[in-house]
Amino acid sequence: MCGIVGYIGNRQATEVLIEGLSKLEYRGYDSAGCAVNSGDSLSVRKFKGRLSVLADDLKANPLSSNIGIGHTRWATHGAPSDVNSHPHLNMDSTIAVVHNGIIENYMQLKEWLISEGKVFKSETDTEVVAHLVDYYYEGDLLDAVYKAMAKLRGAYALGVISKDNPDELVAVRNESPLVIGIGEGENFIASDIPALLKYTRNVYFLENGEVVHLTKDSVKIFNQDREEVKREIYNVKWDIEAASKGGFDHFMIKEINEQPNGIKETLNRRLDENGDIKLDDIKLTKAELDNINKVYIVACGTAYYAGLVGKHAIEKFAKIPVETDIASEFRYRDAFVDENTLLIVVSQSGETADTLAALKEAKSKGARILAITNVVGSSVSREADDVFYTWAGPEIAVASTKAYTTQLVSLYMIALDFAIKKGTITKEQYKTMISKLGETSDKVQEIIDNSDDIEKIAEEIKDSKDAFYLGRGLDYCLAMEGALKLKEISYIHAEAFPAGELKHGPIALIEEGTPVISIATQDVLFEKMVSNMKEVKARGAYVIALAKEGNKEVEKAADRVIYIPEVDDVLSSILTVVPLQILSYHVATKRGCDVDKPRNLAKSVTVE
Ligand code: AGP
Repeated sequence: MCGIVGYIGNRQATEVLIEGLSKLEYRGYDSAGCAVNSGDSLSVRKFKGRLSVLADDLKANPLSSNIGIGHTRWATHGAPSDVNSHPHLNMDSTIAVVHNGIIENYMQLKEWLISEGKVFKSETDTEVVAHLVDYYYEGDLLDAVYKAMAKLRGAYALGVISKDNPDELVAVRNESPLVIGIGEGENFIASDIPALLKYTRNVYFLENGEVVHLTKDSVKIFNQDREEVKREIYNVKWDIEAASKGGFDHFMIKEINEQPNGIKETLNRRLDENGDIKLDDIKLTKAELDNINKVYIVACGTAYYAGLVGKHAIEKFAKIPVETDIASEFRYRDAFVDENTLLIVVSQSGETADTLAALKEAKSKGARILAITNVVGSSVSREADDVFYTWAGPEIAVASTKAYTTQLVSLYMIALDFAIKKGTITKEQYKTMISKLGETSDKVQEIIDNSDDIEKIAEEIKDSKDAFYLGRGLDYCLAMEGALKLKEISYIHAEAFPAGELKHGPIALIEEGTPVISIATQDVLFEKMVSNMKEVKARGAYVIALAKEGNKEVEKAADRVIYIPEVDDVLSSILTVVPLQILSYHVATKRGCDVDKPRNLAKSVTVE
C-alpha cells in the first residue's frame, strides 16, 4: 500500500530516493518523505501531498548525504498529514524507519513503549518500530532490528538507518514486497523493481522474515535465525521505458495499447515447437489432476472478474466444476478445502492481502495452490505450489487492463491444458482453440486501431450520474468488469446486472437518458439480449450495444453499437473487455479525473 526506497553508495541519496519514489507513486501517494544521515545527525523531510511537494522542498533546501531512506504513503493508520508521513523517528532522532504494511499489534506495543517513557508524535503503527529499534539499540543496528522484529506481528517491509551507523542500511521483508538492488559501490532497497531500473538491473528477492544488511560495498541476507543465506541474482529484463508512459498521456492508455503484445507474450512463450501448450511453471501431473475433486478460483476486483471467465473456460473444456469466490469472503467462510482441492489465485500484484490470506487459509488445509500473477517474486508466487506468470510487463495504472486480458489468456491455457490431460477434448479441438487464442491479439489490435467511435460515445455519456451494464452468460462477467472500470476511474455510479434480472428489480432504475451498455457477443443468447435492449430503450435508456460484426439486427434496438471482430464465443471475453476499457478511459479523461491514480484507490491493496 506504500512505496519504500533506500540507498547507500556514492551518489547524492536524495536524488536516488526521489527518482525511485517517483516510480512507486502508484503504490500510494497521499504523502512522501525521506531521511538521510548527514554525518552528525539524521535529517528528515516529510510532507502531506504528492511526491512533488517533497521534491520541491529538497530542491529549495538540499540535503547532502550518501545514505537515506524514502517513502510514499497510502494512509491506513492516521490520516494523511506531515506528522503521519514516513520516515518515523525515535525520540532522540537517531533512528529513522520507513514501512510498508500493517503492524497488527501496534497498539499493545505502543502502550508498553509509552509505559517505558517513549513519547509518540504520530497516529501511525509505524512509529512503534522506530521506538522499538531504539529500545533495543546498543550500537549494533542489525541486532536492534532483529530484536524489534521479534516483537512485531503483521505485514511489514522496513528500511532502517541510524545516526551512529552512517555506513549501514538495514531492511526487512515480512509479507510486504521488498527487492534489493545491487550496484557497483552502491546498493538499494525498494518495494518494486521500477524504482531501481535507472541504476541497476540486478536484484535479490527477499523471502518472508529475511533481514538484509547493506553497506555501499556489500549485501548480506539473513534468515530469521540470523543465518546468512545465499540468493541468486535476478537480472531484470524490463527497460526503463517499460516503466514509464512511453509517449502516452497516461499509463492506463499505454497499458491498453500493450495488450496485443501481452497476449502474445503470455501465449507464445508457452507453446512448444508443435504449437502445444507447455506449462513449465505448472508441475501438476495428470494423476494429481485426477485426484482434484474441487477447484476454487479466488481473487479480488478485476482479477476476480477474470476468475469468473476462468470458471466458464475450465468447466467448458475440462468438465471440472469450479467455484469462484471473492478473496475477502473466502478467507473467513471456512470453505470446504482438503488435499483434493485446487485453489487458483489470481492477482496482478501478487501482494493483495485478502488474496494472500485466502491462499494461506487453503494451503493450511492441504490444498494445492496455483497462482496466476504478473509480478515475479511476489508474495503470492512464493507461497504457491505452481505459478503461471502473465508476462504483461509492469502494470502501473491503478485500473487493471493488460493484466486482466493476460489473466484471461492464462486461464484459457490452463483450462485447455487440464482438458487435454483429462481427455475431455480431442487433440483437434485443442489445436483449434490454441490457434483461435493466438488470433485474439491481432483482433484486439484491430479494436484499438478503430476506437474513434468509442471516444464519441464517451463524450455523450460523460455527464451521466449512473450507468448500467447488462450481459448474459460470459457477457455478464464482462459487464461486471466494465462497470468496475467505469466507476473506479470516472467516479460515475456504474453497476452490472444479469440481463435476465432486469424485470426482477433493476429496470426500475432506468430513467430518460440513462446509459445502458448491453453486451451481446454470445450467439446463443443474442436474441434475448436484443429483447432486453428493447425493454430498457422503451423506458428511455440510451442503449450502447456491444456485439460481434455482422449482427446488424442489434442496430434496431440500440442507439449506438460497438462491434468487435468475429471470435469464438468462449474466447470473446478477451476482445469484449477492450472497448469497455477504452470507453471508461475516455469518459474519465473527459471528466478531468486522475486516470492513473483514482481517488481513494491504490494499485496494490496490501492491507485488509
Ligand atoms: C482493478 O482495476 C482494480 N485496480 C482492483 O480491483 C484490482 O483488480 C484488485 O485490487 C486486485 O488486485 P491484484 O490483481 O493485484 O490482486
